[in-house]
Amino acid sequence: MSIRISDDKIIIKTKNTMYAMCILDKKIPIHLYYGKKIKEAMLPEIDKKIRSFSPYFDVNGEIYSRDNIKQEFSFYGYGDLRATALRVLDLQSGSDVTNYIFKSARSFFGRKEIQGLPFAEGECETLEIVCEDKVTQSELCLYYTVFYDSDVISRYFTLKNNGNGDLKILKAMSMSLDLLDKDYDLISLRGKYAYERVAHRDHIYGGVHRITSRRGASSHQFNPFFMITDRKATEEKGDAYAFNFVYSGSFLDELELEQSGLRVMVGLGDESFSYLLKPSESFSSPEAVMTYSSKGIGQASRNMHSFVRSAILPKNKIHPIVLNSWEAFYFKLDEKIMLDFADGACSVGIDTVVMDDGWFGARRNDNAGLGDWIPTKEIFADGLGKFVERIRSRGIKFGIWIEPEMVNPDSDLYRAHPDWVMRDAKREVLLSRNQLVLDMANPEVVEYIKQSLDRCFDGIEIDYFKWDMNRNIAHAVSPYLPIERKGETQFRYMLGVYELYDWFVKRFPNAVLENCSGGGGRYDLGMMKYSTQIWTSDNTEAKDRVFIQHGSSYGYPMSTMSCHVSNRHGQCEDERKLDYSFKVAINGPLGYEFNILKADQRIKDIISSQIKEYKNYEEIILNGDFYRLKNPSTDGCYAYYFVNGDKTEIFVSYLQNGGDAKGKTHKLKISAARADMNYKNLDTNEVISGAELRRGIIVVADSEERYGKTWHFIAE
Ligand code: DGJ
Repeated sequence: MSIRISDDKIIIKTKNTMYAMCILDKKIPIHLYYGKKIKEAMLPEIDKKIRSFSPYFDVNGEIYSRDNIKQEFSFYGYGDLRATALRVLDLQSGSDVTNYIFKSARSFFGRKEIQGLPFAEGECETLEIVCEDKVTQSELCLYYTVFYDSDVISRYFTLKNNGNGDLKILKAMSMSLDLLDKDYDLISLRGKYAYERVAHRDHIYGGVHRITSRRGASSHQFNPFFMITDRKATEEKGDAYAFNFVYSGSFLDELELEQSGLRVMVGLGDESFSYLLKPSESFSSPEAVMTYSSKGIGQASRNMHSFVRSAILPKNKIHPIVLNSWEAFYFKLDEKIMLDFADGACSVGIDTVVMDDGWFGARRNDNAGLGDWIPTKEIFADGLGKFVERIRSRGIKFGIWIEPEMVNPDSDLYRAHPDWVMRDAKREVLLSRNQLVLDMANPEVVEYIKQSLDRCFDGIEIDYFKWDMNRNIAHAVSPYLPIERKGETQFRYMLGVYELYDWFVKRFPNAVLENCSGGGGRYDLGMMKYSTQIWTSDNTEAKDRVFIQHGSSYGYPMSTMSCHVSNRHGQCEDERKLDYSFKVAINGPLGYEFNILKADQRIKDIISSQIKEYKNYEEIILNGDFYRLKNPSTDGCYAYYFVNGDKTEIFVSYLQNGGDAKGKTHKLKISAARADMNYKNLDTNEVISGAELRRGIIVVADSEERYGKTWHFIAE
């Protein structure tokens, strides 16, 4: 049992962490503690200090203020004057004051489904706390689901309108956590298109920090994942809290450091969201997740990795080694080119050839055809089915690109249904990459896409789909929704997207799904519920990838990070560069973005030996525990290692990227090596003790800026 409910306290325990609350006066859920396991007697008392100007209430002669005590969940309008998690407007009275009072608590094994949204699954236990606001007659249920082994607790809420009048939710945060009043750092993953999820560490100053996306996607610019650490925390030491959101649309991570400490919230926010709740309707927020480690930032990442692997990602899926057509041919596809490409792929040992954008409708460039999921006769004289048979007869698997949520104005779909795109009826639509966003809040649109994908791929054996999404939402106004529900557009867009994903993975159960949004514009736990891996970034320049991959590793397991060796911009024109690109790409599932038709035999030989080599350590890369050693933003190089469960196999990588001066030395301390074991270096056959590995491998920077080195150790 990880949850214990007693008269005065509710305690949640995971393998290494403890979370505690109490119910003040049997009415108000108060947060007491989140951190490493401690004795219950050591739990902090409720902070009774009332700061001047803060509104207070009386409990048996003692006064308390919601503005000063640590709340389990914060709501607007009843004396908590900090940033709050829930704001509900009573449309009859015009008041946005609510006061949710505790009614009951219970725990149960397993969890409830969150209708229409992706959520974590697996062995778990759930705490349900029910509160009620008497005036609006709305019931608030707070859910805490405990994933014991990963040290993760997930949180969301459900609000039900039991009254007779309409309510409007103006702000919805899935979790709110009041941390101890200390000095903290924030690690967040920020960037832009083709440079997403670079890790930044900033001191948390007083005031409000909002990490947010209003783009209708979790975005290239700000990822929902973040960490709060103590100021001295390192990869191996100190307190680290990590948070994420099982959602792929606009989001808000909101932190407020003020007089009573640091409040941390994750949710839908208030800018791109509102929701009308009619009598007897209910709303559930997407799920937020949190973990804590007293053993530093690295362990908080590993907690998240283990949670994502066990509770989020699709099970029993392979990670194919793909050769993708995009950078090789862009839109210049034809059947002969693709068959030759497949032959090239076979000749080097690649297992899946992927036909990217440009194979359907009038899609010969990015100006036309999107939305028309009909294989073009221009490419497939005998149809897509025959073409796929020809590919597969070569002994290779086949993958294909789709972008179901979008439409070009120059398409049959748009000509037939101009009202099926997100638009403000009185204004010109705004294009991005010559395309518009389909109104996925409209069930008819979702149904239409299902039918067209179903027709297009029916009876054709496809092993891998790359599902892309290449623009953000500008006019988030669904023509389908009634006026009073227009504010739900972005949220209902995502419900439509998830409905489509859900249908798709059931319709094509044998295929591997790779998600993509112009690279990593939707690199999040919502997408990971359906996709085995995600196209990390459209930036395939290895020197830049080092930053993107390093940043992604803070919140996401490496198995999700699709990494391709690319010869774009001539970066693989000689053996050294090709070697560097490969060494950078083996941080996650390997693939190639490479015009193999232009490769001579020497390059092909190198690629085929890379693939053989990768297979020697593929398992540990996909499933091993990951340790960061060097941060490219601060150390001048990137280094990391993977270790398997019983620590008998270790794979270490060091990657220069121009930041290291020749001759500079680094010590790569493999602290997870077992001191009681000896390890054999599989490249040199040298034997090295675990104790020595723990003291550190010395590596000397090379004169080449693109230089990488790996070590593969097996215990003797
Ligand atoms: C953006 C993706 O990230 C690329 O890999 C490619 O699939 C293009 N879209 C195709 O339009």
